[in-house]
Amino acid sequence: MNRAKTLPSILLIVFIHQFCTSLDTITINQPIVDGNIRVSTGETFALGFFSPGKSSYRYLGIWYNKISEKSVVWVANRDSPINDTSGVLSINSHGNLVLNNRYQTTPLWFTNVSALPTNNCIAQLLESGNLVLFHSGSAIWQSFEHPTNTLLPNLKLGLDRRTGLNRFLTSWKSSDDPDTGNFSVRINPEGYPQLFIYEGHVPKCRAGYWNGVGWSGVPFMQKVGFIFSYSYVNNENEISYSWNVVNGSILTTGVLNESGFFHRLKWHEDKGRWEEFASLPRDQCDSYGLCGAYGNCVRRNGEIDCTCLPGYQPKSPQEWYRKDGSGGCVRKNQTALCRNGEGFVEVTNVKAPDTSVARVLANLDLKACKDECLRNCSCTAYASMGVTEGSRCLTWYGDLLDTRVFTEGGQSIYVRVDALELAQYANKRKDLLARKGILVIMILSVATAVSSVVLFSYCLVRRQKRLSQNGQHEMFTSSSSTLPDDHPREKELDRSGSDPHLPFFDIDTIVEATDNFSNKLGEGGFGSVYKGQLSNGQEIAVKRLSKQSGQGIKEFMNEVQLISKLQHRNLVRLFGCCIHKEDKMLIYEYLPNKSLDYFIFEKSRKQLLDWKKRFEIIFGVARGVLYLHQDSRLKIIHRDLKASNILLDASMEPKISDFGLAKLFKEHQIEAITKQVVGTYGYMSPEYAMDGLYSVKSDVFSYGVLILEIISGKKNTEYDKESPSLNLIGNVWKLWREGKGLDIVDYSLLEHSYPCEEILRCIQIGLLCIQEHPADRPTMLEVVFMLGNETSLPSPKKPAFVFRTQSGQESLITRGEVCSINDCIITMIEGR
Ligand SMILES: *[C@@H]1O[C@H](CO)[C@@H](O)[C@H](O)[C@H]1NC(C)=O
Ligand SMILES: *[C@@H]1O[C@H](CO)[C@@H](O)[C@H](O)[C@H]1NC(C)=O
Ligand SMILES: *[C@@H]1O[C@H](CO)[C@@H](O)[C@H](O)[C@H]1NC(C)=O
Ligand SMILES: *[C@@H]1O[C@H](CO)[C@@H](O)[C@H](O)[C@H]1NC(C)=O
Ligand SMILES: *[C@@H]1O[C@H](CO)[C@@H](O)[C@H](O)[C@H]1NC(C)=O
Ligand SMILES: *[C@@H]1O[C@H](CO)[C@@H](O)[C@H](O)[C@H]1NC(C)=O
Ligand SMILES: *[C@@H]1O[C@H](CO)[C@@H](O)[C@H](O)[C@H]1NC(C)=O
Repeated sequence: MNRAKTLPSILLIVFIHQFCTSLDTITINQPIVDGNIRVSTGETFALGFFSPGKSSYRYLGIWYNKISEKSVVWVANRDSPINDTSGVLSINSHGNLVLNNRYQTTPLWFTNVSALPTNNCIAQLLESGNLVLFHSGSAIWQSFEHPTNTLLPNLKLGLDRRTGLNRFLTSWKSSDDPDTGNFSVRINPEGYPQLFIYEGHVPKCRAGYWNGVGWSGVPFMQKVGFIFSYSYVNNENEISYSWNVVNGSILTTGVLNESGFFHRLKWHEDKGRWEEFASLPRDQCDSYGLCGAYGNCVRRNGEIDCTCLPGYQPKSPQEWYRKDGSGGCVRKNQTALCRNGEGFVEVTNVKAPDTSVARVLANLDLKACKDECLRNCSCTAYASMGVTEGSRCLTWYGDLLDTRVFTEGGQSIYVRVDALELAQYANKRKDLLARKGILVIMILSVATAVSSVVLFSYCLVRRQKRLSQNGQHEMFTSSSSTLPDDHPREKELDRSGSDPHLPFFDIDTIVEATDNFSNKLGEGGFGSVYKGQLSNGQEIAVKRLSKQSGQGIKEFMNEVQLISKLQHRNLVRLFGCCIHKEDKMLIYEYLPNKSLDYFIFEKSRKQLLDWKKRFEIIFGVARGVLYLHQDSRLKIIHRDLKASNILLDASMEPKISDFGLAKLFKEHQIEAITKQVVGTYGYMSPEYAMDGLYSVKSDVFSYGVLILEIISGKKNTEYDKESPSLNLIGNVWKLWREGKGLDIVDYSLLEHSYPCEEILRCIQIGLLCIQEHPADRPTMLEVVFMLGNETSLPSPKKPAFVFRTQSGQESLITRGEVCSINDCIITMIEGR
């Protein structure tokens, strides 16, 4: 009787004991003593005592539980170390978490929430790495509100306006000492809120303001927006920022290191270590205010150079690097800046100046923003706010500090200059355009006093006729797409407020230039291409779009306008457009060297492309496609990437053509076009071919085919008598599996020595790009990374591929099914 009663209760006690110690909670009865840990439910994080680096002191902290390297993400008693193993973390009678040791009665650390009843208190280490103290089920304290040096996913930085609590990161003193260091990462709410790295109270580096997609000074964030999701809130309750990974199985974190560098890290399982994928500051130009007020920091060939914003000159050339404000630039002419015919000069691709002296106005377009700035004589510059928040206007009232030039990304700012300066910039621009031979009409309306309109017209081609169809003549006159890529790029902005627009060519000019479309260069998916020469000698390629585009003229113009803004060294440059009745034409720079297929598939010309050149082409194309996918504001899927769409310039640098054309056609028309086009077939991803599904990963697929073609010198669809049943992809896969990957390498490369490792790496990347499932293919960002770094690569699985049946008919294999091409994808095999 007695025994029967006690046995279950003993079992119960044993059970409870085990249950509790292996669990993720601390209760009044279950404190943590040194040597004891708590692990979160998914076992990602652990809470307990540790000694950092070479230190023998004990600290209570949270670290990653599953990975081999001890990575502490939070420390409780960072300023009060324990010199032995007597530490105990418990919940005290007031319901606070307290850390004690055997020597002191006052706690070393405690949560300091106001006294509350003790029953129903529990602290729990959540799977997110957050230690939370619950009273009767509601969270009253959490470690995420008191971060140390690590920004975990979902941890909010910033100000809670209701409680006044500001959450920020502070560095450790050293890797052996988690004591509060000199550096911090915090959101400064002054003016328009910005994220800073501080050293003490002095700004060390400015990440900028939130532009809707990322911090304005960190263009990188826009590229990885697909890996991370960000949350930014700025309202009456809070200003906060946090991030998360889209795919939760990846371990990534952000750490402020002991010398004030903020690193974004990703856990690399194979290598057993953290790898950095982004860091701030990146270079010296990121040092806050390096070039002083009105300075602009430029990095050229790794060297730092300070320049002045338009209208300013160095205070003293020797004092550039003085951070005490005595360096920097001053106005060339102090007297001439208020209602004196002044205007604005655009400075492109920069990190906008410190917005703690800026104001934001919603619902103002760029023109209204300019007017707003012009109206107030103390306004020094204006800009549109950002990537997605286009209609917000930023105006600066005070010194323009901490501007820098970005090689990629960044934004335009418009700097107030006097009338003289404005005229000089207009002249500079005029010269540039004259040299380029582009027709430009600039409209300058003299600001407030005299409102006369001066029309400059530099028509080197021929004087332009009025565009009769739509009367939108002025809209497409001046050019933003034809200025050279010198940094910083500064353009005169007309004072009428309209944006610079794409040049419009009239039909007579084009007919004359192309000798009435007599010199056809080729035919592609979206129309035919003709060679031409403008009367000033500039050679052009005119793409006459097939008539299937379902767009109206205005829509068309808008799209062309957007496409013309895409500028990258690996994209063909668009000079302008022309509309004549039903005909729509695009005018491109002409590249004399023809397309990649002209070289790569021809025995006699293959020799011209050695491995070094081919690798540069592979890399260049990847960067161009990445730009289309991530870096440009438009996010463009090319849809028709292939060797004949890669043009080569005089130095054999690749330039992608036909990008953005898909945007000019409606969806069903693209389907129609792709079905007709000869040559697209071998590049099509299975999901597009089968289901019409198109994404950036379909471009990745086409790019993978392209890599393999460049390496092998064979077309994917080419018949190979050595393995008649397989196409190129099938063949590469077969050889790769047999460990004979190098067998596919173009014979003409074998004449010279070539780096086997690098080629094998490229083959592997090619195979990864043509994986059957889009999710298994890398993104272009990853491709560029893999090409540029010698990191280990995943093993490719069997790619999607096409093989030939005995009858010579092609079949597409996906997911183990075989179906005749005629059933699946209509015609268009023949002819290839
Ligand atoms: C640890 O510190 C306490 C006082 O804080 C001191 O009494 C004790 O001797 C120290 N122990 C060791 C091993 O240094
Ligand atoms: C605890 O909180 C109170 C009230 O917020 C504050 O005055 C006190 O300084 C805090 N104590 C510690 C040790 O932080
Ligand atoms: C922190 O600042 C102090 C005072 O400026 C300096 O002595 C110390 O070396 C700095 N520590 C680090 C880790 O930079
Ligand atoms: C997340 O990543 C893992 C490992 O990289 C992968 O197996 C999984 O399919 C991914 N999940 C999603 C939804 O992308
Ligand atoms: C912090 O990061 C920077 C940049 O990566 C590095 O140069 C520096 O050595 C790091 N500091 C420490 C203390 O590890
Ligand atoms: C400054 O501007 C005023 C008004 O435009 C002009 O009269 C004066 O000559 C200019 N001074 C210099 C040094 O350019
Ligand atoms: C110009 O802007 C500043 C800063 O916002 C403001 O203090 C000042 O009153 C404005 N002046 C005029 C004339 O609007």
